[in-house]
Amino acid sequence: MFIPQSILRSSSLIVLIGALLLSACSKSVEPPSVGSTGSSFALLQTKVFDVSCTQCHNDISKNIYGNLSLSDTAAYKMLIGAPPTNAEATKLGMQRVTVGHPEKSFILFKLSGELDSLMGDAMPQHGQSLSPNKIEFIRQWIAAGAPKDGMVADTALLNDASSAQAALVPLTPPPAGQGFQLHLAPFPISPASEREIFSYKDANLSQVQWVKSFDIRMRQGSHHFILWTLDGAQEGVNDGDVRDRSDNEMNRQTRSYVFGAQTQDAHYTFPDGVGLPLSPGKGFDLNSHYVNTTNEPYYGEAYINVVTVPETAVQHIATPFLQGDFYSGFVIPAHGSNTRKFYWPAFTDTTHLFLLSTHTHARMTNFNVYVARKGVTTKELIYHNADWHEPATLQLDLLLMPGDRLYSETSYTNDTDHDIHFGYTSQDEMNVVLGYFWQ
Ligand code: HEC
Repeated sequence: MFIPQSILRSSSLIVLIGALLLSACSKSVEPPSVGSTGSSFALLQTKVFDVSCTQCHNDISKNIYGNLSLSDTAAYKMLIGAPPTNAEATKLGMQRVTVGHPEKSFILFKLSGELDSLMGDAMPQHGQSLSPNKIEFIRQWIAAGAPKDGMVADTALLNDASSAQAALVPLTPPPAGQGFQLHLAPFPISPASEREIFSYKDANLSQVQWVKSFDIRMRQGSHHFILWTLDGAQEGVNDGDVRDRSDNEMNRQTRSYVFGAQTQDAHYTFPDGVGLPLSPGKGFDLNSHYVNTTNEPYYGEAYINVVTVPETAVQHIATPFLQGDFYSGFVIPAHGSNTRKFYWPAFTDTTHLFLLSTHTHARMTNFNVYVARKGVTTKELIYHNADWHEPATLQLDLLLMPGDRLYSETSYTNDTDHDIHFGYTSQDEMNVVLGYFWQ
């Protein structure tokens, strides 16, 4: 086995997962500062962009979101008089914000959803649309010349509490006999803070269930959801118990990783003939971490659909793996860089690796994973990722023989005044591989 169950369950890994959630999310805990407070634009930034847009449209990942960052430092100049990336909007003579002209401002078309088929998706993509009042606020601001300073739109339009955070539209549950739905009920996150919880649900499975696919839908504000199994009886945890993250929670010995999601809407289907077993006797621990960068109360919430197939449809058993490299001697020097070269444990059986992803923190610049075949000196590059925030997930069908192993080279650049080591917080670094295989 590539990762023995004992490693999957080991407390250090559980701590690691918690740290992944904490560190990957804690980047933006501070409420963003806006230069000119007390202006309509400053309110637009904090009440709309920071709440509903910057999880996608930020400085780091803007290139996959229409080349638009709506971070507090970039939003104004990337909107005002700026040509759209969308070719159709450009052809029609629109700018993202055409000063004084709402009817020629592409942002309003994206927000109202009045789009033809060449204009891409309505915004926010995947989430609920902004309230009509918020859209009206933006319209008034544009009509008044879209100034950076000054109150030019009706502020009351933003005090629309019901739309501070869009309500979650539930997923339609799988049909009877083809799976089940789990619901992580709404839990509050105070303004400008973060919260991670575990919510336990009895599974009451009478026999092994074979998972074919997962769908996860979360309220905005979360980057992470993880579904774990947990033996509630052994751990003294009852159906419906909700616990905040603590060292004690992280060290639960019977918790095993099932599935994780980093985007608001996530879907995964196992390859043909492959199924993931869920055994009777364990329940589910629904684990979610939310970061509220706004000054309003926020709620975390998630729906999880688990779609199952009959055992006869399963030829191969999926095994989840998640493994971290904890070498504490590794240093990324202040104002320097370093590359961690690491051999992961060898496979002892013939293995089909079919999903591979990685995890690091913000200082990672390049993550390459290779296959190092037993007795062969050259290595085959199979995975490349340069985006720490939304790491690439590779679907593959790679046959590995006993003695073969994964090898990785992970590069980091440190722009701070102090050395950075491996560790759990967002100020430390990490080196993790994860995915699924069958043997
Ligand atoms: C879940 C990710 C996501 C969220 C949240 C999101 N967007 Fe987008 N946005 C995209 C993607 C992807 C594109 C590019 C494809 C397209 O236009 O449909 C895009 C494109 C755009 C564009 C067009 C850019 C251009 O020049 O062509 C605008 C304007 C825009 N978004 C505004 C917003 C606003 C305002 C919000 C918040 C109210 C928002 N988006 C929230 C993903 C997102």
